[in-house]
Amino acid sequence: MVDLRSDTVTRPTAGMREAMATAEVGDDVYGEDPTVNALEAEVAALFGHEAALFAPSGSMANQIALQLVVPPANELLCDADAHVVTYEIGAAAAYGGISSRTWPAVGADLDPDVVAAMIRPDGYFAVPTRAIAVEQTHNRGGGGVIPLDTLRQLRRVADDAGVALHCDGARIWHAHVADGVPLAEYGALFDTLSVCLSKGLGAPVGSLVVGSAEKIERARWIRKRMGGGMRQAGILAAAGRYALAQHIDRLAEDHARAARLAEAIAPFGVLASPVRTNVVPLDLTKAPQDAHALAAAARAEGVLVSVLGPRTARLVTHMDVDDAGIDRAVTTLTGILRA
Ligand SMILES: Cc1ncc(COP(=O)(O)O)c(C=O)c1O
Repeated sequence: MVDLRSDTVTRPTAGMREAMATAEVGDDVYGEDPTVNALEAEVAALFGHEAALFAPSGSMANQIALQLVVPPANELLCDADAHVVTYEIGAAAAYGGISSRTWPAVGADLDPDVVAAMIRPDGYFAVPTRAIAVEQTHNRGGGGVIPLDTLRQLRRVADDAGVALHCDGARIWHAHVADGVPLAEYGALFDTLSVCLSKGLGAPVGSLVVGSAEKIERARWIRKRMGGGMRQAGILAAAGRYALAQHIDRLAEDHARAARLAEAIAPFGVLASPVRTNVVPLDLTKAPQDAHALAAAARAEGVLVSVLGPRTARLVTHMDVDDAGIDRAVTTLTGILRA
């Protein structure tokens, strides 16, 4: 199978498994796992922040961060297609008592003025805005990269309004590789970030919340309350450390493969937006097949495609798909679209 559904499907490499098997471990709820501590220090330093906290998933890392920056009965602003309001099953409301309001889905093309106009200050019997969240890269926004300049403008908007800025950076590594923006430059723009090791970087588990020492101290309590305190988690952190050392630069290969896929299917008029990173978004409005039909036909030929809606689908490149896999996907998908 050539599995292009998501970059979460990767399996740990032999080198990563070796790192996991030989990891030094301790009880991380006591703060005594040396490998977790090393990973947290490394990631904090990469983003130029004081501290970071290892969490079991990207969703939990996002939700811990949102609870840090938005008190109960206060408001978060984000894109209508953001992961935090699409795929986290109402967690911000359920666990944080957080009210979310969204700007129309624009992926990475966000307009800081639109966001600025939505902010509601304290004091006139409306839910006060406390934080803005953005997604870098934007998952449902076709892997789009928010330009650094837009993020800088958004930082000014947040500062002027006295609200926090959170980055769902599950794939911030891809933005860093695509645009050449240093991770610390991204880090400097946000109060909190969540970053994932288990997407493009290929670790089996793990994300981190990044922020100030004071915030991460509180984050440790929130993580425990949410049931995310893990014990000998160094086995997992070792996979993450290995991924950071070995798998960031190679994301350029995934981007090149996604571009090759996009180029091959573009003549069929199904590319939803230009490809910037490892996501190829498909808009099948004008195609003979809907998304389910395309996915079923591709599956029958050994290629897995993700269905996002009746006429929207997605292909994602990652470590476990090589050039031969892309060749096979191109032959399969162009054959189906031509029929
Ligand atoms: C942008 C984004 N944020 C957060 C997550 C959540 O990660 P997890 O599946 O580890 O909870 C994902 C998962 O794909 C994602 O794409």
